Amino acid sequence: MKIGNTIQEVRENVKAWRTEGLTVGFVPTMGYLHEGHQSLMNRAAKENDRVVVSIFINPLQFGKKEDLETYPRDLEKDIIVCASAGTNLIFHPTAEEMYGEDFCSFVDMNGLTDTLCGKSRPGHFRGVCTVVMKLFNIVKPDRAYFGQKDAQQVAIIKRMVRDLNLDLEVIACGTIREADGLAKSSRNIYLNHEERKASAILKEALGVAEKKLAAGIRASVEIQRSIREKIASEAAVRLDYAEIVDLETLLPVNRVEAPALVAAAVYVGKTRLIDNFIYEI
Ligand code: PAF
Repeated sequence: MKIGNTIQEVRENVKAWRTEGLTVGFVPTMGYLHEGHQSLMNRAAKENDRVVVSIFINPLQFGKKEDLETYPRDLEKDIIVCASAGTNLIFHPTAEEMYGEDFCSFVDMNGLTDTLCGKSRPGHFRGVCTVVMKLFNIVKPDRAYFGQKDAQQVAIIKRMVRDLNLDLEVIACGTIREADGLAKSSRNIYLNHEERKASAILKEALGVAEKKLAAGIRASVEIQRSIREKIASEAAVRLDYAEIVDLETLLPVNRVEAPALVAAAVYVGKTRLIDNFIYEI
């Protein structure tokens, strides 16, 4: 496994693979890798001849009051995780390598980026789209792998690929969870013991919504109310949003008559956690 810090190194490696007729799978990450990332790499290794993983904490997607400085980092462990999951090349650039001093081109999207998490994190998805577009242009993968836990990110990247005619396939992979149901996330490390215990309520609340849907309840307000009530039963957790939206447009649906995304975000102390499920009729 190679580690490249420059765009040129990645381009040279990928070009050599292409000359041999090999396919390339790509897993973009911000590092501090966990089993969720590992599952993306495993799938990429299964479906492609070569796998590139980027490890880059993208300053552009953090708000001024967010955790850019404290975002967890452990490159040594990340290298071991990548090697054990069949990665061929890690791209680990500096911020200077990715964004020159005079950088001034961004990828903006209307609508999809302003709802759900975009409401509490203005500018976040502009930063995500811009860095992912750059990474796609650098790596030029056949397939790129993202976690379904970040459902809005998946919908936005798929739309960007479609709207801008990027020649690759975006593949969403299922959420990997802790034993109590909490979705794996690099940010779970911020939770203290009490907060960690309380966090399980997020998946439980989505479980209540799933049961309501399975019982035939179709009114979104009723399902959203059940999520709100369950979250409110845990004093240490504050709801940001509980929404039911169309899978592609992310627009709210009043009645769940077609497959829909049920998504929620909460604050546990200062940590923001998200989770979701897709309801298939
Ligand atoms: O999901 C993430 O870790 C990031 O948003 C991504 C896709 C690597 C872009 O920085």
